[in-house]
Amino acid sequence: MAQTSPEEEYSVLGRSESKIEKYGSKGTAYLGKTVLSAGQKPVLGRKIMVDIAEPHVALICGKRGGGKSFTLSILLEEFARQPFEIRQRISVIAIDTVGIFWTLKIPNSRDVKELEKWGLKPETTNVRVLVPSGQKKFYEDKKIPVDDAFTLKISELEETEWLTLFKLSWRDEEGVLLSRIIEKVKETMGTRYGFTEIISAIENDTDAGKLAKQALVNRFRVAKSWGVFEKEGDKIEDIAKPGQITIIDVSAYRQTVGMEGTRDIIVGLLGKKLFEQRMLFRKEEEAKLIAGQKRESAMPLVWMLVDEAHMFMPKDEQSIALSVLLEWVRVGRQPGLSIVLATQRPEKLHPDAISQCDLFISHRMTSQPDIAAVSLLRPSYMHQDFDKYYQQMPREKGYALILDDNTEKIWMVKIRPRFSWDGGVTATAFKD
Ligand SMILES: Nc1ncnc2c1ncn2[C@@H]1O[C@H](COP(=O)(O)OP(=O)(O)O)[C@@H](O)[C@H]1O
Ligand SMILES: [Mg+2]
Repeated sequence: MAQTSPEEEYSVLGRSESKIEKYGSKGTAYLGKTVLSAGQKPVLGRKIMVDIAEPHVALICGKRGGGKSFTLSILLEEFARQPFEIRQRISVIAIDTVGIFWTLKIPNSRDVKELEKWGLKPETTNVRVLVPSGQKKFYEDKKIPVDDAFTLKISELEETEWLTLFKLSWRDEEGVLLSRIIEKVKETMGTRYGFTEIISAIENDTDAGKLAKQALVNRFRVAKSWGVFEKEGDKIEDIAKPGQITIIDVSAYRQTVGMEGTRDIIVGLLGKKLFEQRMLFRKEEEAKLIAGQKRESAMPLVWMLVDEAHMFMPKDEQSIALSVLLEWVRVGRQPGLSIVLATQRPEKLHPDAISQCDLFISHRMTSQPDIAAVSLLRPSYMHQDFDKYYQQMPREKGYALILDDNTEKIWMVKIRPRFSWDGGVTATAFKD
């Protein structure tokens, strides 16, 4: 790093000293610059780069409108700008609950001056927007450019997941019937069944009462209308492709009561399949390495970015995605799975998601219960309470506190402006 002008100086967070020596700033995301002085218009210093070449558990907090989705977008822009040899080893999946990330495709012509100050200019970002197959019209009506639709294979859902999805228990008559039906279609059809087969199996059941049968048929009809499950779903390899940034837009399910569970099941199933596949491919990679070959396989490392993460990893609620994402958080490092969780309600988030994170990025927070929840993190290198740091943070948007276990430092950072159009403003018009 010696002999560089201040403009080129940088610090890499989330990466060990020895790896920084070896790789420098290769495989990092340029997030912003350090804040060097106090006050509302602080002097900015060196660039802050965050490691994305190795697995991490990152948590992005901040109150509503604090800049979490903005920071997620910066990360997505950076993934798209990696040199080819790194990009092709990584697959990025972003779960978009609000419908804002598609604007990454549009250059940020609104902030040309601000970008100029940073030596940057508006640019498009290459992302692929996928929407649930049966909800395409919703996106067309909203004029959201969609690249493709996706479906999930119905047989991937276990009976316990159906029970959770329909909020049934083993003890309900309907729950008992459901378990019997799923077992039966599996037995007779293996993995080749769809809604039609399930519904006719319910109708042909001779043990259950008429009312329970009708109620369960109705539930499956509703599930069908979500437009995400099909007899033949997409393969996970087609959803998580190497070198690609895939936006899974599930904002269609925001509007309708009773459909919230759909987002949960999409994240849960994707997370589960990706985990299973990475475990398999990891073995293949190790075998190659042992045989003296290059460590590579058809399945890339995966980064999953989850906005509004408290919905998927709640503290005191049932959720299909929860157990899957906890696996990612607890043991994802080994198979090469990274996760970035953004939430305005750390208090509502499962505590493991907080305690396991190795990269903590926080925009301003004001709610005491939320601050108390992240105080769980308080590492030994932190010399004052979170409250104090938030007080020192400039009021303007775009500042963040970053805790980095590798450098054992706390950084106050100004997030860089976006290359791409900020959909946050537009998205509020979509809500409710
Ligand atoms: N780093 C930033 N620089 C400039 N404006 C920002 C920045 N972060 C956020 N904003 C502004 O604040 C708005 C809300 O940010 P957003 O990321 O949507 O908040 P959150 O996801 O935390 O609710 C954005 O639309 C944007 O206009
Ligand atoms: Mg947001």
